[in-house]
Amino acid sequence: MTEQLSFILNGRAESLVGADPRQSLLRWLKQKRLHGTKEGCADGDCGACTVALVDVHADGSAHYQAVNSCLLPMGSLPGREVVTVEALAAGERLHPAQQALVDCSGSQCGYCTPGFVMSLFVAGHSGEAGDTAIEGNLCRCTGYLPIRAAAQRLADAPSPPDRFAAAIAAPRPPLPTVALDRYFSPTSVSAALALKAQHPDAVWIAGATDLGVNLSRGLAVAPAFIALDRIAELQVIDVGDEAVRIGAGVPLTRIERELHGMFRALDDMLPWFAARQVRNRASFGGNLGSASPIGDLLPILLALDARIHLRGVRGERTLAADGFFLDYRKTLRADDELIVAVSLPRSAQQITASYKVAKRQSDDISIVAACFALQRDAEGRVAQARLAFGGVAATARRALAVEEFLRGKALDEQTVNEAGAQLRNAFTPLSDHRASADYRRALCANLFARFVAEQCA
Ligand SMILES: Cc1cc2nc3c(=O)[nH]c(=O)nc-3n(C[C@H](O)[C@H](O)[C@H](O)COP(=O)(O)OP(=O)(O)OC[C@H]3O[C@@H](n4cnc5c(N)ncnc54)[C@H](O)[C@@H]3O)c2cc1C
Ligand code: FES
Ligand code: FES
Repeated sequence: MTEQLSFILNGRAESLVGADPRQSLLRWLKQKRLHGTKEGCADGDCGACTVALVDVHADGSAHYQAVNSCLLPMGSLPGREVVTVEALAAGERLHPAQQALVDCSGSQCGYCTPGFVMSLFVAGHSGEAGDTAIEGNLCRCTGYLPIRAAAQRLADAPSPPDRFAAAIAAPRPPLPTVALDRYFSPTSVSAALALKAQHPDAVWIAGATDLGVNLSRGLAVAPAFIALDRIAELQVIDVGDEAVRIGAGVPLTRIERELHGMFRALDDMLPWFAARQVRNRASFGGNLGSASPIGDLLPILLALDARIHLRGVRGERTLAADGFFLDYRKTLRADDELIVAVSLPRSAQQITASYKVAKRQSDDISIVAACFALQRDAEGRVAQARLAFGGVAATARRALAVEEFLRGKALDEQTVNEAGAQLRNAFTPLSDHRASADYRRALCANLFARFVAEQCA
């Protein structure tokens, strides 16, 4: 492997020789006495630690993306470029993102302000207007009205291209193959699999929005890591007539933008999946790899009858999402297998929608997530139904008996009520600090009734 153990921080090369690959960029910045980037939660929840990471696309174009530095392991940084809040002002002249917050009185204690500034800075470059640009930033004293006004001001009067635009204007080569201690960053699937064979104790790491939380808390997680975020093959979205194949490493922001309008269930869910900083890094592969009972994409895979493509040293296999989830965080994937892609079938006849209920509307973990896919015959009777839920069992599950009950029936009030009664008893969810089991059961029924009312009238 070539060794290129440095990264660019605010225009200057910083050596990574001897750096701890598990340490978060946020901690490293603090050690370097760069205190502009703030720590609120160290969990990816508050956005105080937002920095701009330069992301290089397959065509060589470079783009700023907002990321939570508390979740970014140093191991992911060799060869990359980062901009922090310290770099924005030119002498006494504030950057437009900073000036907008000043002009709109968008800062009181100021603790959250550098994070908002960096989100607004990236939004200015990506053209993302409005609330989604700052949905991952929390403020507990100013109130959001003036901050949103600042975001709107920037959207209404975009700044002309500046030195930051010039810095990423030229095409860039792909990120190099590199290793920082035992944090390996290969650039091909075959190299990743070979590394796994050599280091069976290593874990795959993609966007690090799950694993990064544990690393940020100082947990070792694993003796070694094999990063997937430089493997071009895992970053491909292939839109076919029958199905769309999404590379396991494609960040959710790209799915949200590039497949918009193609899968209603994704359009419904992705805006409520974490927040922009997390979606800029989080991947389908990571959601499947975690196999959490509250993974928001998993009911979608079940309802849409997705295929999961796995590759290991023994070859490639494709499995139906149905049956893939065995038990709590257990799946059919062997430890040394890599999820390389998921395929979502395209079906014009299907009515689909997904729903997420959480305590907070934005940037929160699901109490229940649901995805429904339904096909009707010429008489309007249900030809096929797939009703999938997260948050109601040890893993995402379909309500198979209710699907069977619906087959051949008209979706009248009696059928929907009866299906609702069955859905209330379809699972035995837990009560926890988020919600009671009864509430979860009621949600299963109510979300289905809402789906029928909204989509099947
Ligand atoms: C603040 C915050 C909010 C969040 N909100 C949500 C939410 O709303 N909904 C939700 O579902 N999740 C949420 N998450 C969890 C997380 O963002 C998702 O699970 C995400 O999809 C993980 O993707 P990743 O690429 O970051 O995975 P990583 O953290 O890199 O990896 C996660 C797991 O998957 C494995 N893995 C990764 N890629 C592969 C692969 N290709 N093949 C095999 N195994 C693989 C890793 O070994 C690891 O075990 C949130 C996390 C944070 C920090
Ligand atoms: S410190 Fe809160 S998101 Fe990083
Ligand atoms: S200004 Fe105090 S937390 Fe936002």
